[in-house]
Amino acid sequence: MNFIISETRKAILELYKEEVAESVINIQETRKEFEGQATIVVFPITKISKKSPERTATEIGEYLISHVENVTKFNVVKGFLNLSIAESYFLDQFNNQILAPAFGTFPSNGKKVMVEYSSPNTNKPLHLGHVRNNLLGYSVSELLKAYGYDVVKVNLVNDRGIHICKSMLAWQKWGNGETPESSGLKGDHLVGKYYVIFDKEYKKEIEALKAEGSTEEEAKKNAPLIREAQHMLLAWEQGDEAVVSLWKMMNEWVYAGFNITYKNLGVDFDKFYYESNTYLLGKDTVDEGLKKGVFFKKEDSSVWIDLTADGLDEKLVLRADGTSVYITQDLGTAEMKHDDFKMDESIYVVGNEQDYHFKVLFLILEKLGKEWAKGLYHLSYGMVDLPNGKMKSREGTVVDADELIESMVATAREKTEELGKTNDFPEEDKEELYKNIGLGALKYFLLKVEPKKRLLFNPAESIDFQGNTGPFIQYTHARIKSLLAKAAYKSEIQSPASGQLLPVELEMILQLAKYPAELEIAAKAYSPASLANYLYELAKLFNKFYHEIPPIVKTEEADVKQFRLNLCKKAADVINAGMSILGITSPERM
Ligand code: ARG
Repeated sequence: MNFIISETRKAILELYKEEVAESVINIQETRKEFEGQATIVVFPITKISKKSPERTATEIGEYLISHVENVTKFNVVKGFLNLSIAESYFLDQFNNQILAPAFGTFPSNGKKVMVEYSSPNTNKPLHLGHVRNNLLGYSVSELLKAYGYDVVKVNLVNDRGIHICKSMLAWQKWGNGETPESSGLKGDHLVGKYYVIFDKEYKKEIEALKAEGSTEEEAKKNAPLIREAQHMLLAWEQGDEAVVSLWKMMNEWVYAGFNITYKNLGVDFDKFYYESNTYLLGKDTVDEGLKKGVFFKKEDSSVWIDLTADGLDEKLVLRADGTSVYITQDLGTAEMKHDDFKMDESIYVVGNEQDYHFKVLFLILEKLGKEWAKGLYHLSYGMVDLPNGKMKSREGTVVDADELIESMVATAREKTEELGKTNDFPEEDKEELYKNIGLGALKYFLLKVEPKKRLLFNPAESIDFQGNTGPFIQYTHARIKSLLAKAAYKSEIQSPASGQLLPVELEMILQLAKYPAELEIAAKAYSPASLANYLYELAKLFNKFYHEIPPIVKTEEADVKQFRLNLCKKAADVINAGMSILGITSPERM
């Protein structure tokens, strides 16, 4: 409703003889309890009118009514001017903008953004936390694409370090040559199994040493297993062939396993970075920082940055023995990523336990004078918990991603068959549908919550066909599709409804019209949560619409019927497009 802004500026010029910037005119959706569709907040204008808010609103309202054809009525509530807009305006908007194929798409904005997400360690399978990470990373990428960015999705795999040696060593000692083929285990689960075995055996050694009189700290340091793992890490870094080939073999197992999980989650990447290639990066950056006086060296030769003036503390950037710490690598990797892609923005999707790390990382890059550091953003997210007793893994701590996916699909199967919805489906279509519903439930439940918030994943609630859930929205979509098929709907031929719009028809147009703005809001916030909730509102509204209007199929007037079917079709289109940004499939039948 951009015309309101320009017409209100004209009104102000006319009434108060002053040119005002567009930003002075603040327009909101009219609240449900008042009459009208658009509301002007007049408080900022009273500075110019030098009159009370009520008086100002009334004067502007009167001006708009007599000068602007599409403004038909107004009412004033304190400093709010509620405007009624002519139905013909909304009908035109529906026919000319919303029905057009390009509706809800943005042209390229000429900007490139990198989204780093997933970034697992290769010593164990993915868990529930990774699931939130992957879904968020994927959907933010899709959201930014839809908003006109050129998006590069990257995965920085942590495939080196002591944690990897632990799995390798345990496999060497107790594996008896076990492979994914021989054990029937998914590769990442097999490797994870040995990581757990290492931990158990290591704990036994610690207990034994403590029984002999060692302190906890000594025992942890001196246990033969950890010594051996450290030894292995050294050998690996010196290029020891046996260790390197063991590492390669086990890593292949892990990647094969991860790929299955990624495929099931429906996420993908344009580029993989591996820490085994990047761990030496960042040392040049340390030298640069020393030269620029941003870093300083302590007596033991360790390198630090003093961030006390920024409200943080002193931070180590290189150990005394010259080896890297986590942030050293990230400094180098940030630089390499930028050299590789020259992106305008770079998003790191990483859990909030690393908030401090990213704060420091970005601050250091800024202090080093990297122009591009302004474009870095940590998309931080909170933990995901499960209700007690639900799907906890054998160790009782982490929820395995593959088990979770499997159980979601199983629940979707149960629920759907219980409702008898798929009795006449061919067998393969059924399986496809259960997968779409199960994953739709999981994805929607995790994505409708603001990333920053910690969340409690409730599988039973997520898969309910009623309420703010993925399956409810999916079901609404399928319902619309079957309605369109029954009505033999052909295409989006413009059809002005004759006579007056029903209130619920107007509501539908208004809700649909908001879609591009909702995409923009979500993209700017780097968060799909508001988009998810918008889609829920749309699905809910469609159900109300469908309930309130006379049966479409039986509608006599061709014009009215076509108009209402157009509303249905666009609701389905918007749900489908929005859900696919969330990584969720909208089945045609359910
Ligand atoms: N692999 C790390 C972990 O599992 C996350 C890496 C995040 N990305 C980064 N550039 N530091 O905790």
